[in-house]
Amino acid sequence: MTTLPSGLPVVVDRAAPTPLAVQISAQLQAAVTGGALRAGDRLPSSRDLSATLGVSRTVVTNAYARLFAEGWLEGRHGSGTYVADVTPPAGDPRGATGRRGETLHRSVSLWTSAKADPRPGSAPGHRTGSLIDLQPGISWAEGIEPAMWRRAWRQAGAHLPSRWPDPYGLPELREAVAAYLRRSRGLAVTPAHVLITQGVSSGLALLADALLSPGDRAGIEEPGYPTGREVLRRAGAEVVPCRVDAHGIVPEELPPDLRLLYTTPAHQYPLGGRLPVSRRQALVAWARATGAVVVEDDYDSEFRYDVGPLPALHSMDPDNIVYLGTASKVLAAAFGAGWLVAPPALVDRLAELRPWLGTRIPEAVQHAVLALLRSGDMERHVRRMRLEYARRRAALVDGLTQVRPARVPFRLLGDTAGIHVVLELPADYPAVRLVDAAAAGGVAIYPLDRYFAGPVTMSGVVLGYGTATLSQVRRAAAELGRLLTSLP
Ligand SMILES: Cc1ncc(COP(=O)(O)O)c(C=O)c1O
Repeated sequence: MTTLPSGLPVVVDRAAPTPLAVQISAQLQAAVTGGALRAGDRLPSSRDLSATLGVSRTVVTNAYARLFAEGWLEGRHGSGTYVADVTPPAGDPRGATGRRGETLHRSVSLWTSAKADPRPGSAPGHRTGSLIDLQPGISWAEGIEPAMWRRAWRQAGAHLPSRWPDPYGLPELREAVAAYLRRSRGLAVTPAHVLITQGVSSGLALLADALLSPGDRAGIEEPGYPTGREVLRRAGAEVVPCRVDAHGIVPEELPPDLRLLYTTPAHQYPLGGRLPVSRRQALVAWARATGAVVVEDDYDSEFRYDVGPLPALHSMDPDNIVYLGTASKVLAAAFGAGWLVAPPALVDRLAELRPWLGTRIPEAVQHAVLALLRSGDMERHVRRMRLEYARRRAALVDGLTQVRPARVPFRLLGDTAGIHVVLELPADYPAVRLVDAAAAGGVAIYPLDRYFAGPVTMSGVVLGYGTATLSQVRRAAAELGRLLTSLP
């Protein structure tokens, strides 16, 4: 018997007729089902394990490959092999324990009653143990290659801090961001148009401070991004919900007296519409006619599947449209990096205002973003994550579209981009019924009603696949499918 560095007992018996790879995979699988190995535990590298057991590396690689294929293990880019979360959904005869189900139920009911954005201050989904959490809006930080990350921070660490923060952001970063936006989004920008931010919410708060006086009317999509709504409300604006449909905002219905309008044309949050060209033209015409500033949140434009790119709205009228970008979806919200693009005069005004608000963009973070952009690592990472998210999206969408016969009719919205889809239910069907049943089955999903400021006019749930692994997404789709064919 050989004891692994992790303390796991694995025996290889060379005299036995069973191939060595099968012996190893069977014992590791038994360790998972027996509880000696738990979801998230890291396994030794194939090199270490083969050395410890005195077998060839191919034997161990084959054993791992078998466990991967069966869903017992999963890999994280560049950081090793981990035990997958293989807890079967409740309702399955091998079901999760009642206690887990209860805990989950409680936490989901809390969310259900909250109208505010669930994120600020809340623990992200992947910390909730055996629960498969389809919380929208959170990216797969574990997908960041550690080697790439270390490289960026080594370069950031080579710079001593400046004596005083530059309120615009580092000049070399403004230049690199302008080049990135020209390349990736076709924006005709120079560094003078770019202000470095901590993300979309920080950019929006700064704009609101600069442009809005108490009582000014600020429009936001309905349903829309709760954090955006809250940022505008806290700036003293009267927040005006502006209707969206499956394509995005409806310009013909916009009131004439808005000072500012926040919108997500690339992938409306949360319904997922891509604003068609005719509506973009109408929106630009409305902004020119009314003098309103349109704030374009381009939060997840990096992730687009099976559809061609649509240029940023900003390109159609750079004088009236302020563009907000973020690294929160590409890297992680906790990283705290983003950018704003506006006419240079407005950029100057925002930079002048910033020191009075006490907002500084940490220079080390800026150097790290700069290193990621200059090395090409950022774009390589985006390509890798696009593939990963595309696999998860396909698993979710395919899993759900195969549901037949659905007792609860539904349709999927917004699946061509981003890291979430909306499952729309009949308007009179209580989404909470599906949310509660899914929670009892080990899957946390989020009702659409929290995205409405006013009366809730549609029923549905938001399914985020940013933080659930491929195997979890598959299991979640199967569980939701089961519920859609069985729930009253
Ligand atoms: C619509 C929308 N915009 C922007 C963001 C990111 O905001 P920030 O850059 O402040 O992290 C999110 C995150 O969930 C979002 O859903």
